[in-house]
Amino acid sequence: MTQPGPGPETGVAGDGGAGDRGAGDRARAMSGRPRLTVFGTGYLGTAHAACLASLGFEVLGVDVDAARVSALQAGTLPFYEPGLEPLLRAGLRSGRLSFTTSYPAAAEFGDVHFICVGTPQRPGSGGADLSQFEACFAGLAPLLRRPCLVVGKSTVPPGTVVAYSQRLPATAPAGPGAELAWNPEFLREGHAVDDTLRPDRIVAGVWSDRAGVTLRAVYAEPLAAGVPFLVTDPATAEMVKVAANAFLATKISFINAMAEVCEVTGADVLSLADALGRDRRIGADGMRPGLGFGGGCLPKDIRALASRAAELGAGEALEFLHEIDAINQRRRSRVVDLAREAAGGRLVGRRVGVLGVAFKPGSDDIRDSPALEVAARIRALGARVAVFDPAAMDRARKVHPELVYTGSVLGAARDADALLVLTEWPEFSAADPGVLAKTVARRAIVDARHALDADVWRSFGWDYHAPGRPAPGSPGALPGRAAGVRPRQAEPPAAAASFLAAAV
Ligand code: UGA
Repeated sequence: MTQPGPGPETGVAGDGGAGDRGAGDRARAMSGRPRLTVFGTGYLGTAHAACLASLGFEVLGVDVDAARVSALQAGTLPFYEPGLEPLLRAGLRSGRLSFTTSYPAAAEFGDVHFICVGTPQRPGSGGADLSQFEACFAGLAPLLRRPCLVVGKSTVPPGTVVAYSQRLPATAPAGPGAELAWNPEFLREGHAVDDTLRPDRIVAGVWSDRAGVTLRAVYAEPLAAGVPFLVTDPATAEMVKVAANAFLATKISFINAMAEVCEVTGADVLSLADALGRDRRIGADGMRPGLGFGGGCLPKDIRALASRAAELGAGEALEFLHEIDAINQRRRSRVVDLAREAAGGRLVGRRVGVLGVAFKPGSDDIRDSPALEVAARIRALGARVAVFDPAAMDRARKVHPELVYTGSVLGAARDADALLVLTEWPEFSAADPGVLAKTVARRAIVDARHALDADVWRSFGWDYHAPGRPAPGSPGALPGRAAGVRPRQAEPPAAAASFLAAAV
């Protein structure tokens, strides 16, 4: 996301938005609802703004990127997120949602200001780059003339919120009337709308009852539907988010570390994960083994947390997060090795088909994407790499123009010496191994995300490889091996064939 700061005086808010002060004030007086602003219009901010507008609030989205603001104001989402664009358009049509680049307009408009700007990894270090947050705060605080609540939602390392809480009343003309609260966001890309409207919990880190009451009013509808509302101090709320992401990353790396051991013992990591996940204390969610985690959150958040803990003298406590990161990185190397094995022992001069470059299905995000990194590494090792992804092609092409971008599953598979599934899009699970068998040069598949039914693929003559699963001939590959554990099932071949035909 771009770096916010004070924008020009004239925003691009449409009718019924920031420009329609009188009507807005009347509507608010009637509904008694606070007016909301959302700073930063990335995945988090746009989802938050559109969802709150759908709950009946007047919402003004703010970003310094004028092109992005114009696109959003025209109802176009600058990224792929299922279900969000219709919500955006409905919000714009209702007149409750609009976008602007103007900080003064936003300061005048809002009773509650949500800060949702990006906090990426600082280049060359594990720490978080808080410059977008700082610019947003520095641009907004001096404009706050009346009582309001500023609510941080961005993911920040521990210690950030206390410092800003002290600065806010000292900087805002409203003085102590301007208060900071922390309300971390737990949404997953690909599920942003659901996770925003129906989260597992809402955490409100507040210094005062007034702030708690205001956040309850904002979230009245999910609370009425039974979503738990946890009130903490802001420093704890800030910590909940980074601890949650550290735990999720640890769970994924734990099962992937077990996959490494499975590979040398002949055990099957899918059966293992199933058996572990059925223990209610462990749980199966978020413990899918495979190519590991990527994206704009888990990798940078564990690094930022470990880095801040070290700065605070508690580095030893989070030493294990470096190991979590290392396990995760090793998965990428392991899949490159599997690709080499599948391609017949070398990559130089081979043709490799890659299905998936997004960091996960349901998203076009390629930030720290394990899939894209593996594809690029295989290309750098001398293979010709042809890729297909249902959503992330344009973004990937900009960063890795050396890969060949095709228009379909069949296009990526054509004449391949090895075919790799690197992102578990449902389209790939539904692919017909019989049809693909006639397209590739060699029937060798690497299922890096355990998205395919190994038995079905083998029955079509494919040499099937997957991390953490026994290869044919290994000690664990007994005839009639572990039944009852199935990865996501492939669609019936008829449906798969029609998808393939449509996609070519
Ligand atoms: C993550 C958290 O899940 C959200 O709760 C949090 O709000 C968000 O970061 C954030 O900090 O903003 P997200 O990065 O969108 O959300 O995606 P996840 O679904 O957590 O997946 C992250 C990565 O882990 C993906 O590459 C995914 O393929 C991988 N993963 C996930 C696994 O390898 N195994 C799993 O079992 C789950």
